[in-house]
Amino acid sequence: MRHPAKVRIVEVGPRDGLQNEARPVSTDVKVALIERLAHAGLPVVEATSFVSPKWVPQMADAAEVMARIRRKPGVSYPVLVPNMRGLEGAVAAGAEEVAVFAAASEAFSRRNINCSIDESLDRFAPVCEVALAKGLRVRGYISVVLGCPYQGEVAPSAVAHVARRLSGMGCYEVSLGDTIGVGTAGKTQRMLEVVAREVPVERLAGHFHDTYGQALANILAAMDLGVATFDSSVAGLGGCPYAPGATGNVATEDVLYLLDGLGIETGVDLPLLAEAGRFVCEAIGRANASRVGRALMARRPVDAA
Ligand code: HMG
Ligand code: MG
Repeated sequence: MRHPAKVRIVEVGPRDGLQNEARPVSTDVKVALIERLAHAGLPVVEATSFVSPKWVPQMADAAEVMARIRRKPGVSYPVLVPNMRGLEGAVAAGAEEVAVFAAASEAFSRRNINCSIDESLDRFAPVCEVALAKGLRVRGYISVVLGCPYQGEVAPSAVAHVARRLSGMGCYEVSLGDTIGVGTAGKTQRMLEVVAREVPVERLAGHFHDTYGQALANILAAMDLGVATFDSSVAGLGGCPYAPGATGNVATEDVLYLLDGLGIETGVDLPLLAEAGRFVCEAIGRANASRVGRALMARRPVDAA
């Protein structure tokens, strides 16, 4: 199986992970988590989202999070923006990279951002234009690329269509989200083969939630086709507020263990990352969903003895 020499890991735990926590997480904990993740060597730490607090109350402190993090040189701290208002907030907070987010199914688009796919793309076009004119980088997400909680099957051609539009409006990369973690390795490859006809594989990223435990297999399958950027969430935090039953992203610790084992360069330090996972789980009173994180923490007393 083919795999790249280097992989870029996009840590999404502080945003994708925490957005789904029912109990409020303090800004202090969010800031400390982001700083620990950057300290562990992650090149990209998605910090928060400038969305409607009525829709996602947990992200209401986005401006404060951005104001308080000590930014590590060389690390990127993108934020999600659903509309022009979000972009204005992000720019005011000093964001250098934003992400717009569309869906491959009409039903999910409606639930997540309250509009059709075409309406969302028409809304993102000027957001991208303004962001690019201001010198920001723009990333695009597509949700439910391997299945939708409301619609079921999603055609790869529907994903390819949205990917082409996002790429055409200037997104430097399109992240393909298996929002509900139903995809399998074969399905991942079939989808990627179709999408890569529209957007070159070097500009595609994988964003696998791990609901059915297939995310690592899907990452291997995606690497086999040349994908070299993957989103993941420390301690496997999260889920999606508009995808009932979906678990968090694949845990960053688990991805790193896989990549380290293949000798793939990431720049990330596993013990420091696992420590960040332990920190956030204790801080928010949640079980660690990373198998690797749990295994490393269980070994600690033995190593210390
Ligand atoms: P809407 O209700 O259709 O629009 O929401 P609206 O313009 O009527 O706005 C509603 C209220 O929110 C108004 O306040 C606006 O001012 C305010 P009111 O007048 O009622 O007091 N508002 C905002 N406030 C702050 N920042 C803003 C903003 N925009 C409006 N940017 C909207 C439409 C898109 C705003 C809403 O649906 C929304 O915010 N959705 C975000 C949902 C979300 O964050 N989902 C999770 C992220 S996506 C994800 O997790 C998937 C991903 O991980 C990939 C994967 O796994 O698939 C990326
Ligand atoms: Mg997600």
